[in-house]
Amino acid sequence: MMRGGPVIAVDGPAAAGKGTLARKLAEALELPYLDTGLLYRAVGRLALDAGQDPAQPAQRFAQALTPADMQRKDLRTPEVALAASKVAAQPAVRAALVETQRRFAAERGAVLDGRDIGTAIFPDADVKLFITASPATRALRRFLQSGGNTSAADAQAQLGQMEEALRARDEADASRDSAPMCVADDAYVIETDTLDAQAVLAEALRFARERLVTTHG
Ligand code: CDP
Repeated sequence: MMRGGPVIAVDGPAAAGKGTLARKLAEALELPYLDTGLLYRAVGRLALDAGQDPAQPAQRFAQALTPADMQRKDLRTPEVALAASKVAAQPAVRAALVETQRRFAAERGAVLDGRDIGTAIFPDADVKLFITASPATRALRRFLQSGGNTSAADAQAQLGQMEEALRARDEADASRDSAPMCVADDAYVIETDTLDAQAVLAEALRFARERLVTTHG
């Protein structure tokens, strides 16, 4: 496919730091950035708003999705994450969002983060990264992201619940039939348990630049 710039796929499980990395990569390489999780979160949100169980057919919400739906401030809750995972398991919902994602990268290339970017949306991406960390590390990151100001005992309980929720969502995302989350054959896996955001960026940039030189001269 002819594109106006490189496509960089950043996939991985929940709260692994894909968003932070993808945003910084896009900045460093001067490419547009798309958080594809927001598409599914917005569809999940619309299903909940309509009083619908997100496991029920939700493609009409995906087909009518607007930029304003994706800019809502109430998409980052655990409830919406779970709803997103449920609508994301529906092939008709995924099909309705494929073109939006491909079109986004058509003009100038892009960095996209998600679950299936390197496997289903852009199997020919120039650079494929898979960012991961243990469930405990990811739960801690999400906890800190969400404010994290509570008593020590409450924090322990909340962390446990978050880890459980992340595990359940990963399991659902990895075991669905339609574009399950998995590591693409040619993806570069970065385990981030012992790396801070800056070190992950450095490693990702090193790999991306090496790849981009090979593929684009
Ligand atoms: O931020 P976090 O990693 O927790 O989740 P997200 O990237 O916002 O994605 C929310 C949910 O959308 C995931 O659990 C997936 O079920 C779904 N998703 C997907 O199926 N494919 C994508 N490319 C992105 C997200």
